[in-house]
Amino acid sequence: MSKKVSAELPEQMPSNFVPRRQGFDGVKTLYYETVFQDPAYLEVFTYTDRMSYRPGETVRFHTSTTAERFDISIVRDGIRPQKLAHLEGISGKSVGLRDRFYERGCDWPESQTWRVPDDAPAGFYIATSVASKGDVHREQEHGFFVLPRKDRRKEILLVAATGTWRAYNDWGGHSHYVGDNLIDYWQFAPKVTLHRPWARGFIWLPPGAPRRATKQPTAIGSPPRYLQDEFAFSRGFSKFCGSAGWASYERPFLCWAEAQGLEVDVISQADMIADPDLLTAYKCVVFVGHDEYWTWEMREAIEQYIESGGNVARFAGNFHFQIRLEDDGTTQVCYKDRVSEKDPLAGTKDERRVATDWSDPRIGWPGEQTFGLSSEYGCFAGVGGNAARGSGGFTIYDPNHWAFEGLYLGYGDVIGSEAQIFGYEVDGLDYEMIDGIPRPSARMKTPEGLKILAMGLASNLEQAYGRKGESLKWGDETTEVALRRYGVATEAARAAAARGSGMIVAFQKGRGSVFHAGSCEWVAGLQQHDPATCHVTRNVLDRFTRS
Ligand SMILES: [Fe+2]
Repeated sequence: MSKKVSAELPEQMPSNFVPRRQGFDGVKTLYYETVFQDPAYLEVFTYTDRMSYRPGETVRFHTSTTAERFDISIVRDGIRPQKLAHLEGISGKSVGLRDRFYERGCDWPESQTWRVPDDAPAGFYIATSVASKGDVHREQEHGFFVLPRKDRRKEILLVAATGTWRAYNDWGGHSHYVGDNLIDYWQFAPKVTLHRPWARGFIWLPPGAPRRATKQPTAIGSPPRYLQDEFAFSRGFSKFCGSAGWASYERPFLCWAEAQGLEVDVISQADMIADPDLLTAYKCVVFVGHDEYWTWEMREAIEQYIESGGNVARFAGNFHFQIRLEDDGTTQVCYKDRVSEKDPLAGTKDERRVATDWSDPRIGWPGEQTFGLSSEYGCFAGVGGNAARGSGGFTIYDPNHWAFEGLYLGYGDVIGSEAQIFGYEVDGLDYEMIDGIPRPSARMKTPEGLKILAMGLASNLEQAYGRKGESLKWGDETTEVALRRYGVATEAARAAAARGSGMIVAFQKGRGSVFHAGSCEWVAGLQQHDPATCHVTRNVLDRFTRS
């Protein structure tokens, strides 16, 4: 029998870190979490067979641990977490990683099952694996599942950006951003499995963990700091835990909404296509945070929802990649800039489904057509050397719009700068200024009637001056962006590609409405009780849930 455990995590977590490769400085050094299988070292990792269950269905846990016995606690998360089960004394087994586990799945044995009670409330559930060995006690690994259930008249549905979480999850050293199997610096795995653990920090972070965007602008003359990276490395969290995940993005929204007295259900992105009726049961569908990866079918589902009268509030940024889901949704596919050479759909009659940027002409469905903004005309702000000394907020161009009612704003005011809500990746448009008002340029395929309400500046080029101690996050992205935006990478095109924007827009489509504040960090304003961010969010949700 294992001992009783606290629900709180210790701040200093154990590390199963493997240094992967030395970059040119500390920030670029990559490391990842994985199984060591050292009997002297306590480790426990668990994943579930699916992301989403219904009442009466069975959650299957798969675990590798060096502990003889371990526990799994199941908690419905929110402002008042609610424990539903504590499964004690589960037999542990240490299992290795098979070849290409990151795309084929770990294939660990089933360690435990849990039948979802018939009366379990809808929501987001955190499953924490807890192990002890001698005097060492660890709550080491957090997984999750969602329980979509339209059991009473809630009006707001939060769709978790699970495609982006999967893309960034670097557990075992592979993601859509890193991987050992290719040849250049930004190696990546085009296929990633659901059947592996979530890296530490994606589902849970300690209170006060720094956010990805720097709250205080970098001082003039100083090189950029990377507080989130420094925190992650020193405390044993994933290098990417501030980039995506429940803990950084969706959870702050849910907790803010619940504190406001709003009731919010949570589903995964895949639930939008598994059960399209789920969307239509709600008056308002919300997306928050870093929301970069969508399938074709997900876009179709949300557009249909809007056309038929649904309202979408997107407080999120970086709408960028088409993905495909294979193997019953357990494998996520994205070939990015390798699409022409690697994607089997390239050059076929199905090439609209190639897994790459939405701006790719083969797809023929630019990102701005769905939510009114495109990451192609963003993207970086408030991080590294990208727009590092921006205001951190949105400059207001339409102070009389209903979203700002009650704030008594004027043209040129800035909202959200204290909380740095503008960053770290933002969605914008190519635009022209007419009489001091930005409007989408003829290049953009925005929905008719779209209005730009507010804006800030973003950058795709970190200004480097070669000073001692200077380090870059992304460096120069202008060639890639120029090719995607303009089809050429001439000097002039690259200079233009360095410049981007992030915007707040609103428009009607069919019988529905869309409000889109195109910034990953909008939730920082909710988390930090920034008055303007909270007020605008409330205005939008109130209007979109009105009968
Ligand atoms: Fe991103």
